[in-house]
Amino acid sequence: MPSPRSLAELERRVAEERDRPAYGDDALISCDRLVRIFTADGVEVQALQGLDLLVTRGELMALVGASGSGKSTLLNILAGLDVPTAGAARVDGYDLLAMDAKARLSYRREVVGFVWQQTARNLLPYLTAAQNVVLPMQLAGRGGRRARRARAARAGELLTMLGVGHCHDRRPVQMSGGEQQRAAIAVALANNPSVILADEPTGELDSATAEQVFAAFRTANEELGTTVVVVTHDHAVADAVRRTVAIRDGRTASEVVRHTHVDEHGQESSVAREYATVDRAGRLQLPRDYTEALDIRARVLLELEPDHIQVWPDTPPEQPRP
Ligand SMILES: Nc1ncnc2c1ncn2[C@@H]1O[C@H](COP(=O)(O)OP(=O)(O)OP(=O)(O)O)[C@@H](O)[C@H]1O
Ligand SMILES: [Mg+2]
Repeated sequence: MPSPRSLAELERRVAEERDRPAYGDDALISCDRLVRIFTADGVEVQALQGLDLLVTRGELMALVGASGSGKSTLLNILAGLDVPTAGAARVDGYDLLAMDAKARLSYRREVVGFVWQQTARNLLPYLTAAQNVVLPMQLAGRGGRRARRARAARAGELLTMLGVGHCHDRRPVQMSGGEQQRAAIAVALANNPSVILADEPTGELDSATAEQVFAAFRTANEELGTTVVVVTHDHAVADAVRRTVAIRDGRTASEVVRHTHVDEHGQESSVAREYATVDRAGRLQLPRDYTEALDIRARVLLELEPDHIQVWPDTPPEQPRP
């Protein structure tokens, strides 16, 4: 039988747990132990294996990771195009596991915008850039001449803001790859979404053009406050954002955060620090080059110090640690 003191202690902890804000309460995007299992020809592929991710409103961030690590799977779920097998995912108040068809439609029209890698996939070939931008507004909105005029004006403003005002009346075949991607960002922004998701939007472009396209995402983020999540293999893009999250084997493994540092002479420089992700259960993934350097395999020895934790390779008991 537990002593009254430990029972009181237990009750206090339960109360504490209950009153604590829920995981990701104030985040725009929160993924909590997200799992996505694909079954193809009787073989199971665990594309996401308990992925945790929080994205703050107004953030511009990049997702990186090896091919097959689960980046597109995650983005498709966040876009409302695919449903996770288990876990929780919320975007701007929408529960992505519990949406009915109607909520899913309004979510995809009004809350998220999407830009794909394949330029041809983003725009309808028989419409001009401006007509492409107007289309999602038409699908979401009401009729009437005044509404039509407002939509046309907004399309023009968005194209101009992203530096492709000159493509207003051109069809995609009359535009370069970079111009098409910038017009695609305008399409994604048409209904003023909370977040834009982009899956390797610069993958088919040369580096100078990729830079212009990335600048367009930055403009959208700064001018309209739209949250931007970009999957990229492009180091130039990954280095240009404040936070880059790395996905490994269907989980978020580490992230790089860049700060601007001002020294005593007023000189500004960018400082990047790499952090390992700790999930809600306290699990932590050690970087592979660290584990290989110290030949760490099945287990490690932990020692708690006042302000840090020491992690030692496992050694036989006859060799005590100094
Ligand atoms: N529809 C599907 N059916 C079966 N398996 C799938 C499906 N979609 C993705 N997978 C598998 O899930 C894993 C993650 O795929 P995903 O496309 O998310 O990777 P990725 O990180 O986007 O890779 P890349 O950088 O090559 O685009 C892979 O092993 C892939 O083969
Ligand atoms: Mg992919």
